[in-house]
Amino acid sequence: MIRSVVRGNGAALPRRIMKNADFEGMVETSDEWIVQRTGIRQRHVAADDETTASLGEAAARAALDSAGLTPADIDLIVLATSTPNNTFPATAVEIQNRLGMHHGFAFDMQAVCSGFVYAVATADLYIRGGLAKRVLVIGSETFSRILDWNDRSTCVLFGDGAGAIVLEAEEGTGAIADRGVLAASLRSDGVHKDKLFVDGGPSTTGTVGHLRMEGREVFKHAVGMITDVIEATFGQAGITAGDLDWFVPHQANKRIIDASARKLGIAEEKVVVTVDLHGNTSAASVPLALSVAVADGRIKKGDLVLLEAMGGGFTWGAVLLRW
Ligand code: ACO
Repeated sequence: MIRSVVRGNGAALPRRIMKNADFEGMVETSDEWIVQRTGIRQRHVAADDETTASLGEAAARAALDSAGLTPADIDLIVLATSTPNNTFPATAVEIQNRLGMHHGFAFDMQAVCSGFVYAVATADLYIRGGLAKRVLVIGSETFSRILDWNDRSTCVLFGDGAGAIVLEAEEGTGAIADRGVLAASLRSDGVHKDKLFVDGGPSTTGTVGHLRMEGREVFKHAVGMITDVIEATFGQAGITAGDLDWFVPHQANKRIIDASARKLGIAEEKVVVTVDLHGNTSAASVPLALSVAVADGRIKKGDLVLLEAMGGGFTWGAVLLRW
């Protein structure tokens, strides 16, 4: 059977780093509160010349370099983002043009923080369905542009950045020992749409709007939803938590990550945590965390890796792959 195998990965971050202490003159908060409640110590914030498209392009180029490929080798770009450069065209098409790619096809995927997990699962289906052989899967966000910088309950939580992987069709045996995407489960439930949303849009206010979140409500649902979808993914693949080499969760809050890992029985040393460095970068958080753990030598070829995310909608999902 065809497997979608990771051939390379990359990341890009805005130049400017904003530390927790930098908020202290802007809103009533403290480094201590932010670290204790979220685990976040700093985040990158995009300058005017850094956009979802430019960061996505840089991450894509880094992923292509690490794969030893050029844009000519790619036939599909799937960009996970909730902060596109424009309402339309898809920012994926802009990245395609920036890469000098005038063949194949490109589209955006909108599942907020779950976007990258949705995009990997979708790219896998395009590959296995025969519509594409090599796919650039990108998560790129500039949440700084949709934050209400006077709202301390949200503005301290998010950051900007991008990450990407190249998935390539490869013949596998169908066994769990294969490299590539092995299982995926995706969920959503719009009953929760008002708990985490942006209060503007083209068809309603005609404005971009700002992020609004009932943090406590999101927190309350997060661990149960995350662990349910992961257990469904384990069931599909016939594995248990003990078989994993690495758990790469969405980086929203260290307390949610710790509680999920504990409930699933995943050892602390197998959990990749980058929320301290990047904050919550929405659809970019999982590929950014992957890039850190690949660069420092933790994630190696052949390792069994579990990706997970949960976000606005709510949407949530998990992907199991062998690196
Ligand atoms: N600094 C100081 N105090 C603050 C701040 C701040 N930055 N923000 C809120 N507070 C105050 C609140 O006003 C509240 O004060 P009160 O008790 O006087 O009303 C107090 O701190 C406690 O607030 P809680 O909301 O109960 O704090 P909690 O421990 O729940 O932490 C947090 C808040 C960090 C937002 C947490 O609820 C959380 O992480 N939620 C989940 C967010 C998440 O995972 N999102 C994922 C999806 S993101 C996406 O899809 C885009």
